[in-house]
Amino acid sequence: MKKINIAIDGPAAAGKSTIAKRVAEILGMVYVDTGAMYRAITLLHIQQPDKEIDDLVQSIDLKIVNDNGQRIYLNGIDVSDRIRANDVTLNVSKVASFASVRTKLVKLQQEMTENKGVVMDGRDIGTKVIPDAELKIYMIASVQERAERRLLDNQNRGIEATLEELIIDIERRDHLDMTREISPLTKADDAIEIDTTGMSIEEVTNRIIELARKK
Ligand code: C5P
Repeated sequence: MKKINIAIDGPAAAGKSTIAKRVAEILGMVYVDTGAMYRAITLLHIQQPDKEIDDLVQSIDLKIVNDNGQRIYLNGIDVSDRIRANDVTLNVSKVASFASVRTKLVKLQQEMTENKGVVMDGRDIGTKVIPDAELKIYMIASVQERAERRLLDNQNRGIEATLEELIIDIERRDHLDMTREISPLTKADDAIEIDTTGMSIEEVTNRIIELARKK
């Protein structure tokens, strides 16, 4: 298979990260979860609420390490688990709407894809970060199923939230992400939409691998 980049976009909790990680493993590619980068800046903002976000972005030291998945280091500290907590989830879409934040992270993400061989998931990967990606997927699923999957995921991570709270959070974040001024979440014209409602992880993974192997 020739060396390609795969962009996976879609609304919150659509299973992008789980699938992107599997696809990368099977195809021997590098997996990058860009949501984790926006979450890390949000964590820094929570830790330093008195500093302007534009200033925080200038001084931030983010390190992404691929180690059976992805670990993310903020100013030298592994925050991979901490960034999944509710306080970060609640604030991330606001922080992600800042121009300074997006400029900084998109540049870092583009550097990571220069040599190809990357499966990257997020909201603006096919439209902004790697518009020339060889394969673009737009992954959707019903809100109910996304909330149910996130509930299971949260239980495994020890994060408390009810199904109702998760439905509200998912709808709220989708709205913010789809209506923000800079790089809103939208399907790229040349992306292939996959509705994963009722599909297993294996089925979605296999479908993407099949598409990638045709490239
Ligand atoms: O993927 P995840 O749900 O962890 O992303 C958290 C948030 O980060 C999203 O709701 C969105 O506001 C922001 N994000 C973004 N652009 C990306 C990835 C994530 O704006 N490429």
